Amino acid sequence: MQFLALSGSLRRDSINSAVLRAAKRLAPDTIDVQLCSVLGELPLFNPDQLDNPGEAVRRLWYAVAQADALIFASPEYAHGVTGTIKNALDWLVSFEPFAFKPVAVINTSPRARHADAALRETLTTMAAHLVEPASVSLPLLGAHLDEDAMVSSAEWAPAIRSMLLALSEGVEQAVGSDPECAFQGL
Ligand SMILES: Cc1cc2nc3c(=O)[nH]c(=O)nc-3n(C[C@H](O)[C@H](O)[C@H](O)COP(=O)(O)O)c2cc1C
Repeated sequence: MQFLALSGSLRRDSINSAVLRAAKRLAPDTIDVQLCSVLGELPLFNPDQLDNPGEAVRRLWYAVAQADALIFASPEYAHGVTGTIKNALDWLVSFEPFAFKPVAVINTSPRARHADAALRETLTTMAAHLVEPASVSLPLLGAHLDEDAMVSSAEWAPAIRSMLLALSEGVEQAVGSDPECAFQGL
């Protein structure tokens, strides 16, 4: 199973990016977590460019189409989602393979309620399939842990692994409930 992980922070020492890198390392053999590295290269969304969006957008579209599920982890900026993540989502609004994609939303800050709610609202509006058991709060802000420390943490490593397993179960349930897949015996 392939998961695409999207961080809403471009900051070098980003907690959100670190937790996604940790998830890649903690994933069981059955799950491959790819980190989406193209978000900082996307042009600002312009509907006029949808027919010829350029290399970075095509890479995003390809990665999303290939993924069985998406994992979002984004900071809150001024009570909203970051421009980085909103811009990426705007490029995906009319991208058909995004619809019904199972997604997990990770919130790394216990006080960032507005961005978490806004991200969920946008994803739901875009017809993503929000997998609630995998959409968890991992309040790592202030814990002063880097990626290595998260991977070796007795508290956080199991929580991150549980999130991945919950998302994989969400994918399996979504496939099982898709009448087209059932018809094709997939
Ligand atoms: C421009 C800016 C605005 C922020 N606004 C908020 C906010 O409204 N609410 C909040 O809880 N944290 C806010 N923060 C704090 C960030 O969410 C926090 O530093 C977070 O860890 C950044 O994520 P990162 O480590 O992945 O880059 C803001 C930070 C920045 C740089």
